[in-house]
Amino acid sequence: MLEGQPIVILRNNVERNRGKDAQRSNIMAAKAIAGAVRTTLGPRGMDKMLVGSIGDIVITNDGATILSEISVQHPGAKMVIEVAKTQDDEVGDGTTTAVVIVGALMERAEDLLEQGIHPTVIAQGYRMGMEKALEITKGLSFKVSHDDRKTLLKIADTAITGKSIESVKGKLDGIIVDAVMTVAEKVNGNFLVDEDDVMIKKQKGKSMDDAELIRGVVIDKKRVNEGMPRKVSKAKVALVAMPMEITKTQVKAKIKITDAEQITAFGEQEREALKKLADAVINSGANVLFCQKGIADAVQFFLAKHGVYAIEDVPESDLKYAARALHANIVNKPEDLTAKDLGSAETVEEDNDVDITRISGCKNPKTITILLRGSSDYLLDELERAVVDGTRVVMDAIEDGTYVVGGGAVETELLMKIRNYAESVGGRVQLAIESYAAAYESIPRTLAENSGYNPIDKLVELKNAHAKGKKNAGLNVYTGAVVDMLAEGVLEPLRSKRQSIQSASETAIMLIRVDDMMITQSKPRMPPGM
Ligand SMILES: Nc1ncnc2c1ncn2[C@@H]1O[C@H](COP(=O)(O)OP(=O)(O)OP(=O)(O)O)[C@@H](O)[C@H]1O
Ligand SMILES: [Mg+2]
Repeated sequence: MLEGQPIVILRNNVERNRGKDAQRSNIMAAKAIAGAVRTTLGPRGMDKMLVGSIGDIVITNDGATILSEISVQHPGAKMVIEVAKTQDDEVGDGTTTAVVIVGALMERAEDLLEQGIHPTVIAQGYRMGMEKALEITKGLSFKVSHDDRKTLLKIADTAITGKSIESVKGKLDGIIVDAVMTVAEKVNGNFLVDEDDVMIKKQKGKSMDDAELIRGVVIDKKRVNEGMPRKVSKAKVALVAMPMEITKTQVKAKIKITDAEQITAFGEQEREALKKLADAVINSGANVLFCQKGIADAVQFFLAKHGVYAIEDVPESDLKYAARALHANIVNKPEDLTAKDLGSAETVEEDNDVDITRISGCKNPKTITILLRGSSDYLLDELERAVVDGTRVVMDAIEDGTYVVGGGAVETELLMKIRNYAESVGGRVQLAIESYAAAYESIPRTLAENSGYNPIDKLVELKNAHAKGKKNAGLNVYTGAVVDMLAEGVLEPLRSKRQSIQSASETAIMLIRVDDMMITQSKPRMPPGM
């Protein structure tokens, strides 16, 4: 009965791509995303300048940042960007690497599809390749102990090079490693590092060279009133979330003032209320107050009279960090303050030449702040991204106790070893595993290209070195020589490599298996003729 009539199942606002079209579309998307970040790979990679819709500018070399700033629509492209995000969340570095690998895996899959190899076979080969890759990478790793400062410095160095902060690398790596070593904690025999324990603060002004490691908390504010002491020793710190002011609601009652006496009485009343706020702090035993909101002039006056050091408008994140560092409780209203809510520190003082408050000798000795300085916001932001990357890789290395060498050495070893493995498998799946192996070429190739060397020559040199058993041979991006990366000190946490292998492979496998894409548009598409 229905013969000749198409059956409409999907709404007309659903766009559908099937079979080869769907595959091609995802392959193109993955290649495009990889193409967008590949020129930033490695210490000699270039930076990108991104301009947002409101004219805001970001200059960066950081893969995850670039991809989070650009807006894409294609679902396949979104999945590739997700790889960078996962890498960033799990490891903190290696985002560009992961995306370049997905791009290469999809490019090789395109060739396989053209040769008529079924997507299921490709997916199977890629999965086998991935398992082999993880096993080989583990075998290439070295052990590092939590107090091996020398090795950890090299790991930090490798992550921060190339991020337009070259000149201060030698200082920052020390700051990063010392910060992470301080907060690392042994729990059930394993070292754990909580990222939130290292506070990174930026301050415009001075030069990048003036970056500092501060054993304590830094708040980017000075004391609220000059009459307060500049320095308080044996500090008892109160943390208050609500304003230290009489809010409008508190004086809402309309008072009809009929004579001058009433005006004085009203002023008296307000003054009393404000004094009460200050007294609540003073009576709790506090000699320092950090308030998340404003502090009224009169309250400032009373506090100053009692030698209390106070800061207003402290950001919530700083207040929370201070609470942890000083073992204090944040109270909402000053009236709720008791002695046991107060935190303690050896000193709280205002810095002489910059408008910051330093809190040192905190109750929690693991409190660490990295204070970054620089001449512009762009520079400070990029500096921060580099320090975050550096901090994260040192954390990874301490937690796992392992690292591998960089400079394309691991990838070269992978492409050769996985190819050998493919030969032992045979059949069509062998071709898929071979393509999987070849995708790892993309890393040394891109490193060479971005550093201005001929990628083909460098690949041949690298493969020759590895064929002779030099497992750690990688590319010195400054001289073009193929050298031992262990001796060169180019080191990365094993976690970074494992994660990039795994998430790049899994995403490629998922995309290859898609042969039907149904995209629902937010607005229904008009039927032709309307
Ligand atoms: N001194 C060096 N010599 C050779 N290769 C290096 C050196 N320093 C880093 N590399 C290599 O550069 C690559 C990392 O580059 P880059 O930091 O730009 O990208 P990523 O870590 O993948 O991504 P992102 O840092 O943007 O998250 C790694 O392969 C690393 O081994
Ligand atoms: Mg990096």
